[in-house]
Formats: sequence, structure tokens, C-alpha cells
Amino acid sequence: MQIDVVTLFPQWFDWFRGQRHVANALEAGHDLRALDLREHTPLTGGQVDDTPFGGGAGMVLRVDVMDHALRAFYDTDPVELRKERRVIALTPGGRMLDDGLVDELAAEPAVTLLCGRYEGFDERIVQHFCSDAVSIGRYVIAGGELAAMVVCDAVLRKLPGALGHVDSAAEESFSVALGGDPEYPHYTRPAEYRGWSVPEVLLSGHHEEIRRWRRARSRERGASGTA
Ligand SMILES: C[S@@+](CC[C@H](N)C(=O)[O-])C[C@H]1O[C@@H](n2cnc3c(N)ncnc32)[C@H](O)[C@@H]1O
Repeated sequence: MQIDVVTLFPQWFDWFRGQRHVANALEAGHDLRALDLREHTPLTGGQVDDTPFGGGAGMVLRVDVMDHALRAFYDTDPVELRKERRVIALTPGGRMLDDGLVDELAAEPAVTLLCGRYEGFDERIVQHFCSDAVSIGRYVIAGGELAAMVVCDAVLRKLPGALGHVDSAAEESFSVALGGDPEYPHYTRPAEYRGWSVPEVLLSGHHEEIRRWRRARSRERGASGTA
């Protein structure tokens, strides 16, 4: 899979690329590029944003700047680009990221994530250059970089070669294997600590009973909405 992140802070992704499962995914042949939006701006002084029409606080990322950048990176009109690969605007009001959307993205050969800053994107960027708008939650963070890392992290760990154990991502919270419910609780040694003991069934060695117990706890968590 090929993931591109268009950002004003490409250096943030140097650290991210070094994280174990990300590094594993890259070694396995997947690709993650951080592309500098400012590099191809047609405006003087590296300008990428401007004041909002209609007034108000903050600055808005310009549509002409994004147009130039995407053309330079992909050698194609960005209006056409979104027909060739998912181009995703990261924005608080977008489609909520969940396990289903992560699976959907992990099945794509190539994805581009656009990071906003300041007040966000000129809406024409989202309307004309993007196939999707995605949110990582109903709150606002300062820029799209951390949101892009959340998306990349969740997607890359689904890809073969990213995790040490192939089963690690199969039976996880919200996965099909758990019927969309949160994962069951885990315990490890010591079996007894400050009077808090591990559920007996987990020490029993009865695989079928353990499987049933785990599925039941998972369902309970799904029903109560807590994890
Ligand atoms: C300060 S935010 C802009 C918030 C915007 N003015 C609003 O109220 O919706 C700057 C950028 O951070 C990113 N961002 C902030 N919160 C996000 C979220 N919950 N999900 C995805 N991206 C987010 C987006 O790229 C956004 O354009």
C-alpha cells in the first residue's frame, strides 16, 4: 500500500516512520511519504493560506496552493486524481473513523491524506479534490498531522508484516471476529496481586470455556458501551 500525507510539517513523520509496526510495514514493502504543501506554492514567501471571506478569526488553506501541490506531486489534475486514489481531507466534521473505515482504507492500493491547519481548508479543496472527508473524533486538534498519524497507524497495523504476530489484529476491539464488540479483558502474571485474582476460567486450560468466557465479556462490554 502507498500512503501519502500532504502537510506543512513533513518532519513530524520522521519520528512516526521509526515506530516499530510502521517500520515493519515499510520494510514489508508498504510506502509512507510526507509531502510538503509549501514546497510548490505559487505565492511569494511560502504563503499557503489567507483570511476567510466573510470575516472571522484565523486563516484558511488556499485552493490554488493545494491545486499546485497536488499537480506537482502526482503530475495530474487533482480533480482527476481522486478518481485514481482515495484523497482524504482530515476534518473534524468528516466521516468518523472506525474499524470498518480502517478496513476499507487498508484494502486500497493508494491513499492521500490532506492535513489542514489554522481554520482548515477552503471548502473547494474538499469539494473538488477529495473523495472523502474523515474525522478522528468529535473534538478539534490544532492540525491534521496527528489525525493523519492515527489513520496511518490504524491502517498500517492491519497490513501483512506490520505486527509481530499475524493474529494480533484479527481478534481485536470492534473486529468482525468479535462481532463489532470491544475486546474482552486480559490478565497476566501474577495470578494474585493485593488480593485481586485473575478469573479462574483463564487458569483452567479449557480452551472452549475460555473462548466462551471471553466472547461473553466482549458482548457485555458492547452492550454496556464501556471497555
Ligand atoms: C484547528 S483545526 C480546524 C477546525 C475547524 N475550524 C473546525 O471548527 O472544524 C485545523 C485542522 O486540524 C485537523 N483536525 C482537527 N481536528 C480534527 C479531527 N477531529 N479529525 C480530523 N482532523 C482534525 C483538520 O485537518 C483541520 O483542518
